[in-house]
Amino acid sequence: MLRTHLTTELGLRYPLIGAPMANLAGGELARAITQAGGLGMIGVGSRDSAEFVAREASAARRGNPDIRFGIGVMAWDVVRRPQLLAAVIAARPFLASVSFGTVGPHVARLHDAGILVTTQVHDSAETVAATEAGVDLIVVQGTEAGGHTGAVATMPLLQIVLQATTLPVVAAGGIATASGMAACLAAGAEGVWVGTAFIASPECGRQPAAISAILAARETDTIRTHAFDRAQGIPWPAPFPGRALRNDFTDRWHEREDQMAEDLSAQLRYRAACERGDYRLAHIYADRPWDWCRRRGRRERWCGRSPRALRCCCGHAVHICFTDGCTWTRVRGPIPTPGQPGSAGAALGPTGLQRCAKISNDLLHYSYHENDVIRL
Ligand SMILES: Cc1cc2nc3c(=O)[nH]c(=O)nc-3n(C[C@H](O)[C@H](O)[C@H](O)COP(=O)(O)O)c2cc1C
Repeated sequence: MLRTHLTTELGLRYPLIGAPMANLAGGELARAITQAGGLGMIGVGSRDSAEFVAREASAARRGNPDIRFGIGVMAWDVVRRPQLLAAVIAARPFLASVSFGTVGPHVARLHDAGILVTTQVHDSAETVAATEAGVDLIVVQGTEAGGHTGAVATMPLLQIVLQATTLPVVAAGGIATASGMAACLAAGAEGVWVGTAFIASPECGRQPAAISAILAARETDTIRTHAFDRAQGIPWPAPFPGRALRNDFTDRWHEREDQMAEDLSAQLRYRAACERGDYRLAHIYADRPWDWCRRRGRRERWCGRSPRALRCCCGHAVHICFTDGCTWTRVRGPIPTPGQPGSAGAALGPTGLQRCAKISNDLLHYSYHENDVIRL
């Protein structure tokens, strides 16, 4: 088993959290991801009601009242609709995510209800604020993420955040394969927070036309834009445009949102396209679309795109991280002296550290040498 904070302290089989995704990640998906060994989350959108939260929580619990899941709300939305937080507390999730705004005012209430708290951060200032607010887990959300996100890429942000907090850190944004997961673990994350890779799952209930568009898209086909929010009149804060597939609507209105706001017929055409599922105009929030496991070499098997594929993907990440069955142990903070009692490296010793730091055949080869991590 991979030994990270998520598996040892939170009791997950795999260090993977299914990201909350408004309008897509409901109780069904959350439940499927948890059953597959991760932790599934329900996404609450700015137009979802308190009743929606209760209904999806009960869908997640169907047949198993003790199943664990999380719920994600937007901090800016909770400010204007405080009843959402009450609904989250009433739903008794294992984990609550309050992102895109200030998490601090909500931590004590959630903790008092026995709910763990996390938030997605986008820079070091947010990291420090979240740490001081007493959250239990920090999610680094890189700009590669599908949906609304900040401006800094996942890997640089992960390194910055790991230096800015001693809390457990989970990586999000553009992670969808075993190698991606292994890279994040190698860099010091305690796990991954994955959204887009699950969008084509049957449990998401996404329309076939949207799934086809996602699977047909190339890595250069996404854009971070406010255009769709402005067209819908959703007051997303300026630092968080949404990453979506480019289409005719973004080609016309991205960075021309003020003009679009004055063009009522453009807005009506967009809304009609959303209703009939015409994705030449309607939005599809997503990152570069990946399949969990692509056919690659002999070691990776095709697994489809359902949360069940998570087992295979995580199994492959375990394979990458555990060469020769050695234990994978996080090394955070100052590099430990090999074998020195009490140091992070003591449990494994220099040989074990060298072995466990051998992450991937083709990705990273680190060696532990005289108080330094050197790249071979
Ligand atoms: C369609 C979609 C909807 C999302 N909705 C939410 C949301 O309601 N709340 C939230 O905190 N994050 C939301 N996110 C962001 C995810 O929580 C997560 O950060 C992101 O999916 C990770 O990047 P990835 O898509 O590359 O895996 C959404 C992402 C997507 C793709």
